[in-house]
Amino acid sequence: MKVMTVFGTRPEAIKMAPLVKAMNADPEIESILCVTAQHREMLDQVLDLFELTPDYDLNIMKPNQTINMITANVIMGLEEILKKEQPDMVLVHGDTTTTFATALAAFYNQTKVGHVEAGLRTYDKYSPYPEEMNRVMTGHIADLHFAPTERNRRNLLKEGIDEKNIYITGNTVIDALLDVTGKPYEFEDETLKALDFEGKRVIAVTCHRRENLGENMEHIFGAIRRIADEFDDVEIVYPVHLNPKVREIAGRILSGADNVHLIEPLTYQPFSNLMAKSYLIVTDSGGIQEEAPALGKPVLVVRKETERPEAVEAGTVKLAGVEEETIYGMMKTLLTDPAAYKEMEHAANPYGDGHAVERIVKILKERL
Ligand code: UD1
Ligand code: UDP
Repeated sequence: MKVMTVFGTRPEAIKMAPLVKAMNADPEIESILCVTAQHREMLDQVLDLFELTPDYDLNIMKPNQTINMITANVIMGLEEILKKEQPDMVLVHGDTTTTFATALAAFYNQTKVGHVEAGLRTYDKYSPYPEEMNRVMTGHIADLHFAPTERNRRNLLKEGIDEKNIYITGNTVIDALLDVTGKPYEFEDETLKALDFEGKRVIAVTCHRRENLGENMEHIFGAIRRIADEFDDVEIVYPVHLNPKVREIAGRILSGADNVHLIEPLTYQPFSNLMAKSYLIVTDSGGIQEEAPALGKPVLVVRKETERPEAVEAGTVKLAGVEEETIYGMMKTLLTDPAAYKEMEHAANPYGDGHAVERIVKILKERL
């Protein structure tokens, strides 16, 4: 049985790496890995950490690429590879443009598609943009759906997806997180090494969503800057996404304060250890909303909505929106009100038990 996995960005790579490793080690599966390299450096960081060598690399990334460019280059790049390899199934992950374009190229080749992290929805076409429609369209191409949670399964059923093709597996991000945080680690990054995690309260920040580029991001960073200026026992650590548009806004609003550290994207090992040692996380990332509950870390999500309400219900995640005053107020509360902080500071595992990969491999063997 031949399974071809295709991914292109950092989060897809983190969440698919444990699955690809398991398939590589399985004598019953011929596992092929194709990366689109929609991200280059941030993808390579993950490939290095998990010691994965792709069989194919489309190497499509361009500075300031548009969604159309990514879509066209992925579809064109995959055409010959799919024709040559004729896999029994192509596996894609989540909701990036690599995900949707790969599913479409596989469908045009009449190759079955398995969708890992299926069924997340906000029901707002433009938020997150373009991820909501990417995952809806991928879901309607896919033949097998690996849903992290019961809620995700129900979302798919509502859209008419056949229940016999939906499996609740948990999210593979927990498999990756437990693997990486289970190993002893000491920071190598000079900024992280020098940070006083005991004496100071460290706030880890990430921000990159397309719908936040511009005004929203200015509000988010404005709030963070005010907190940094007001609290001298706070250290802000922000590994800035390589998107030049993000870097411009971050540099403009956040640089120049002694307690704000704008650093390069971290590999997954230091980043997950940074999360584990932080007091609070402020982010618009999807994956971090899944990881933080497992680590018992309070998260303020700087978005208007979330497709991951399980973490909000578990109490570890709160939606802070994209208005400066609200974000500032919510950060301040968590810094000044111990009861409010305590309410959010507990570990929960709504996204899985670390065995999603085993389940997916077993299902693939049954179904292919
Ligand atoms: C992409 C995904 C988003 C996902 C995010 C994870 C789409 C449309 N967006 O958004 O769903 O949440 O990845 O991070 O699929 N860049 C580099 N080096 C890198 C990575 C990015 O230089 O390793 C720069 C390039 O100039 C690139 C830009 O960042 O053009 C934007 O990258 P892109 O993949 O288009 O969008 P993201 O915002 O990263
Ligand atoms: N992450 C990382 N290094 C960083 C920032 C994030 O390894 O400097 C990890 C994070 O733990 C999570 C994933 O990257 O697993 C999230 O990726 P990103 O925010 O790029 O995408 P999203 O989750 O929003 O799709």
